[in-house]
Amino acid sequence: MISFTTVNDLSAYIREIKPTKTIGFVPTMGALHQGHISLIKQSKKLCEITICSIFVNPTQFNNPSDLENYPRLLENDMKLLLENGCDVLFHPNVAQIYPDGLLKNEEDYGQVVRVFEGLHRPGHFDGVITVVASLFDIVKPNKSFFGQKDYQQCMVVAELIKRKFPQIELNICPILREESGLALSSRNLRLNETEKISALLIYKALNHIKVNYSPKDLRKLIEEAKQIIATSSLLSIEYLDIVNANNLEPIGNSITKVVALAAVHCGDVRLIDNILLN
Ligand code: PAF
Repeated sequence: MISFTTVNDLSAYIREIKPTKTIGFVPTMGALHQGHISLIKQSKKLCEITICSIFVNPTQFNNPSDLENYPRLLENDMKLLLENGCDVLFHPNVAQIYPDGLLKNEEDYGQVVRVFEGLHRPGHFDGVITVVASLFDIVKPNKSFFGQKDYQQCMVVAELIKRKFPQIELNICPILREESGLALSSRNLRLNETEKISALLIYKALNHIKVNYSPKDLRKLIEEAKQIIATSSLLSIEYLDIVNANNLEPIGNSITKVVALAAVHCGDVRLIDNILLN
């Protein structure tokens, strides 16, 4: 695996390989787990060269302590990437990605950045849009790989690609879960054993919705799911809802793809999860 830390060095490499090789790109913030590795594997399947970036992006954290506490495990990450055949690692510092200071997107991305994560983490998606656009400009991938775990982020990236990078293919890869059902996340590292047991209730609640889903009685289903989560005093719900999976709007009477989304605090760790219902 080749490692780059500067935009200049990576760009020179990309210029060399780009004319002949299909580039697959997996952007990450590190603390890699099998969920990320599944993206690497999918990229390796579809592309000749797989590039992974590890960059903890300051502009997408609206809470300074969250940024500070975000796990940074570069050595372990590099080992995992190497074992799984990643070709290139890009791990720049902040000055490489933000040479002009921590400016972020000011374009209006519409409804998809206003609800759920956008509502509860003001500015978060502007930070994501900024860093993903900058990484796309640098890496110039043919295909990009994102996890469905961050469902709304996938929709925001889809909009970014539609507006600015129509040449890049978006591949959304399924959520990986522990046997218990807990969705794999770098944040799980911050849960103690008791919290981890409570966190399982999030999947239990979403799964309850999936098993019992019918477009009628959505309110009742959401209430039941909330009650499942409320059985642990360690959990507090930020949002839990069932919406149109194409635009995150209320379902109304339309026949459409539907998703249940949740954000739940477990102790002081904020967890998100989702499940497609049809
Ligand atoms: O999903 C993530 O880890 C981040 O939001 C991303 C896409 C790498 C941008 O910083």
